[in-house]
Amino acid sequence: MKKKVLVTGGTGYIGSHTVVELQNKGYEVIIIDNLSNSDIAVLDGIEKITGEKPVFEQIDLANLERLEAFLSLNPDIEAVIHFAAYKAVGESVEKPLVYYHNNLVSLMNVLACMRKFSIPSMVFSSSCTVYGQPNKLPVAEDAPVQEAESPYGNTKQIGEEIIRDTIKSCEMLKGISLRYFNPIGAHPTAEIGEQPGGVPENLVPFITQAAAGIRDELKVFGDDYNTPDGTCIRDYLHVVDLAKAHVAALNRLTEGNNKKDYEVFNLGTGKGVSVLEAIKSFEKVSGRKLKYSIAGRRAGDIEKIWADPSLANRELDWKTLSSLDDAMRSAWDWEKRIRNIES
Ligand code: WQD
Repeated sequence: MKKKVLVTGGTGYIGSHTVVELQNKGYEVIIIDNLSNSDIAVLDGIEKITGEKPVFEQIDLANLERLEAFLSLNPDIEAVIHFAAYKAVGESVEKPLVYYHNNLVSLMNVLACMRKFSIPSMVFSSSCTVYGQPNKLPVAEDAPVQEAESPYGNTKQIGEEIIRDTIKSCEMLKGISLRYFNPIGAHPTAEIGEQPGGVPENLVPFITQAAAGIRDELKVFGDDYNTPDGTCIRDYLHVVDLAKAHVAALNRLTEGNNKKDYEVFNLGTGKGVSVLEAIKSFEKVSGRKLKYSIAGRRAGDIEKIWADPSLANRELDWKTLSSLDDAMRSAWDWEKRIRNIES
């Protein structure tokens, strides 16, 4: 009998890549998504890769009645992987109440339903943004959580605390928060990938759209940071590696190998890469020269951050396998596919 797992936000970028890896490992996947930032066609992409179309229900998780009605008809779910959230940093500064309401009410409804329907395990999509600008690099899980740079980042911090406290109050529940560094790239089949609506906020989709001629030139937000080449440093990891970490975390919980009822893991390569190094990697794998110019710093950007992934390496028996070039190549292959660009 296949283990049933509910993936909220499962038609999104990281969610869809995680659904593929869950199906590859024999899980039966149910996706709930409100399609506010994703396209239902993603289900066809998943099916093309795995041969299996996941069960899908369009529900806004802020609607508790709808969620309860659905779950009452879908018993025996063993775990939830909770991705569903708004995630645009800049937009969250403009619309904090929209972000706090959507991201936190949705999470609280999912947790309430886990108690009501006896769903014991949760894997939560969190972010390295909870660390702010760490004082020590690489950053480990015991680094202090610092004041969030944005309401988006704050919903991740508060979300972790809500999960921790709910688990503490309920014997049956256990959970893992996964703090992502910078996920990039797409599935090697180019059947699924990142589909940012509008002008991409993130670096890599902007690079590939600029190379595809959809955006004018890339603006590098600052080259006067205290880093070797003056541009910000991040820990970019392949989205498929990240997806596999979710399966490892889920297995840890469903097989009862968790050492505490609530655990946190940093997911990164452990290597810092600057914006200019990322551009160089893209130019190498694509064979194209990228048009870019140096602009002013972006408000809210931290200077440098990269993970100490040793806890996840050890406890989840997980580490990143793909290189920066692999990830960049997959991002470009995806962009070429959706824009019908030959080479
Ligand atoms: C990376 C670097 C920019 C765009 C954010 C969130 C994080 C997660 C990932 C959701 C920075 C520079 C970018 C551009 C640039 N989001 N850049 N020109 O800000 O590290 O992380 O996205 O889960 O939670 O905080 O990622 O890709 O936006 O930026 O120079 O057009 O690229 O300044 O140094 P970031 P990013």
